[in-house]
Amino acid sequence: MANPLKSSTRPNVAVFASGNGSNFEAIARANLPINLALVVSDKPQAKVIERAHHHQIKTFVLELKNCLDKTDYETQILNQLKQHNIDFILLAGYMKIIHPTLLEAYPQKIINIHPAYLPHFPGKDGIGDAFKAGVSETGVTIHYVDEGVDTGQIIAQQKVPRYQTDQLEDLANRIHKVEHQLYPETIRNLIEKGEL
Ligand code: GRF
Repeated sequence: MANPLKSSTRPNVAVFASGNGSNFEAIARANLPINLALVVSDKPQAKVIERAHHHQIKTFVLELKNCLDKTDYETQILNQLKQHNIDFILLAGYMKIIHPTLLEAYPQKIINIHPAYLPHFPGKDGIGDAFKAGVSETGVTIHYVDEGVDTGQIIAQQKVPRYQTDQLEDLANRIHKVEHQLYPETIRNLIEKGEL
């Protein structure tokens, strides 16, 4: 049976991920009007690779340690994106800063999901930092990527409560549940509005 995600009239999308890939999975299952053409990862052992294979989506894995420098790393990725005619990029747990090579090639076409209500708790551990700070509310943010760390223009946000009885894992699970709904929904909205 034809894969409904693979239609030539849909924008070609690459997902960048370094880890588990539950957000990739949510996007892959959401029946979005996109062609999920490529998964890019910097971690050969990442579970997202296995998930991509399961969905019969091509993968490109490149480790920075095997490149001359960050520019070489991103140039090799860019070549792959060009080969697959990628129109936009979704970061989903991609643990690297995006540098000018990719930013300039994809202006306002790279989107990230962050597990906190930005501008609060940017950085690598948005969930842990909010938990440690003892806030009663945190959230999820979808934003365009710029040269900073979680500083780009915000597209969508949703608040998530943190209860006094929460362990870190309870809060993390509640946040991930919101992410898995908010990311696909936001992409759908952007495409429907012609903004992607
Ligand atoms: C998510 O919490 C996302 O917001 C953050 O990294 C995590 C990735 O989780 N940027 P997964 O790999 O999609 O399961």
